[in-house]
Amino acid sequence: MIDLIQHYKEKGQGQVFAHFDTLSEDAQASLIQQAEQIDLDEIAALTKTLIKGSGYKPSYSVDDLTPGSYHPLPEKKNGNPSLWKEAKAKGESALRAGRVAAFTVAGGQGTRLGYDGPKGTFPVTPVRGASLFEVFAEKIRASSRLFGKTIPWYIMTSVINHEATVSFFEENAYFGLEKERVHFFSQGTMPAVDADGKILLSDAGTIAVSPDGHGGALRGLYRSGATLQMEADGIDIISYFQVDNPLVRCIDPAFIGFHIIEKSQVSSKTVLKAYPEEKVGVFCEANGAPVVIEYSDLPERLAVEADDDGDLRFAAGSIAIHLFDREFVRVIGKGKDNSQQLPFHLAHKKIPHITHDGEQVEPSSPNGYKFEMFVFDALPFAERSVTIETARQDDFSPVKNATGVDSADSCRDDQLRQFARWLSAANEAIETDETGLPNFSFEISPLFADTETRFLRKWQALEEKPPITEGVILSNI
Ligand code: UD1
Repeated sequence: MIDLIQHYKEKGQGQVFAHFDTLSEDAQASLIQQAEQIDLDEIAALTKTLIKGSGYKPSYSVDDLTPGSYHPLPEKKNGNPSLWKEAKAKGESALRAGRVAAFTVAGGQGTRLGYDGPKGTFPVTPVRGASLFEVFAEKIRASSRLFGKTIPWYIMTSVINHEATVSFFEENAYFGLEKERVHFFSQGTMPAVDADGKILLSDAGTIAVSPDGHGGALRGLYRSGATLQMEADGIDIISYFQVDNPLVRCIDPAFIGFHIIEKSQVSSKTVLKAYPEEKVGVFCEANGAPVVIEYSDLPERLAVEADDDGDLRFAAGSIAIHLFDREFVRVIGKGKDNSQQLPFHLAHKKIPHITHDGEQVEPSSPNGYKFEMFVFDALPFAERSVTIETARQDDFSPVKNATGVDSADSCRDDQLRQFARWLSAANEAIETDETGLPNFSFEISPLFADTETRFLRKWQALEEKPPITEGVILSNI
């Protein structure tokens, strides 16, 4: 104990123990335990490069960037329908063989939405108000049923929301999933620091920590033993998606098939950016290696650059949907042991804390820093990767903001548009505006159908078709 405190002093972090003598024995033990987990040399190095130095420096210059390559949708000009067909068949047989797990990253704070509670518990569907977690659960159940194999679901939480997330599943009887096949783990944390790299305390006996970013998913999967469990269960493909996007096809056979055909370690889906400033990362290549450039890092001149047809040149938006090879996750997740560590990025944030003098500070503007890893930084580590295009309307409508773009309202409208398209494909035209939005609310549960093809099959098989009117819910018929 004395040694640890001395070590902190020598490293210029003695302030962590400023109130140590005032703490109860239990609180002292708890602070010691937290302090033991922090790598002070790592914090010093991050402070030097990210806070005091010139910030995160990728290994390439933006002048080296070229647009990332991807497989266009089969119906597009350069699309290859027979390859998509082959991929779908390959993906389906991998699913029948039980090789795939679903994986949701749900450890974030959801600050922009201003919702009190884990984001996955946010009610998102137009009529039932089913939560994001319930929508994913139903999609996973539907795919498990279709392929005759239970698809396990891994959910990454964080110190912020782990208990509340698990309780939500308990209260809702795991939405009909087998409880033993839903696995939660809490992601790692990093200490928050001030502008001098000094670790902050949230109270006298607690170090201020925050989740280590969605890039922490890889080491989280490894450290929690999830990769071992997957290996034991014969799972080698991890279907990764964010908690904020209820339109996502959690389990997509064609995507899985491309991943298999290309022997890919990290596979990604792209949608073409709707406009230059859209807040999505962009798939690029830097000296031949695939990279995602975050929207805030893409220089404006590149963001607006047009190709010969007048389309955006850097158009391939990243919607944070990936497939990971389990062994790749194990290697990257082990991190430092083999020097394949994802880089940290800096976030300037408001961090409530207690000062050396015992004063409690509730900042009104950013006063400190958090360190985060981004999952797409794994891409350059992959020896093989593949990106496929997907239709935005069938895969991406995230709930990020309280109002406006990417809000609960825009997401509800996108769900309604999808249901209306499926009905119209079944010749059950319902009235919509010019954007395809019906003027009333109804809902199709993923347990009824989770794709247009399956909707058509199910709908056509119905002897008595229910009239589609306000408030109708097509559920597991
Ligand atoms: C993210 C991507 C962006 C992509 C967009 C698509 C980054 C930096 N950017 O933006 O390239 O185009 O999504 O929607 O990621 N999470 C954790 N633990 C954490 C932090 C986040 O699990 O420590 C989870 C969140 O719960 C959420 C997801 O990661 O599911 C996205 O995080 P968020 O910070 O909201 O990313 P965006 O800025 O929206």
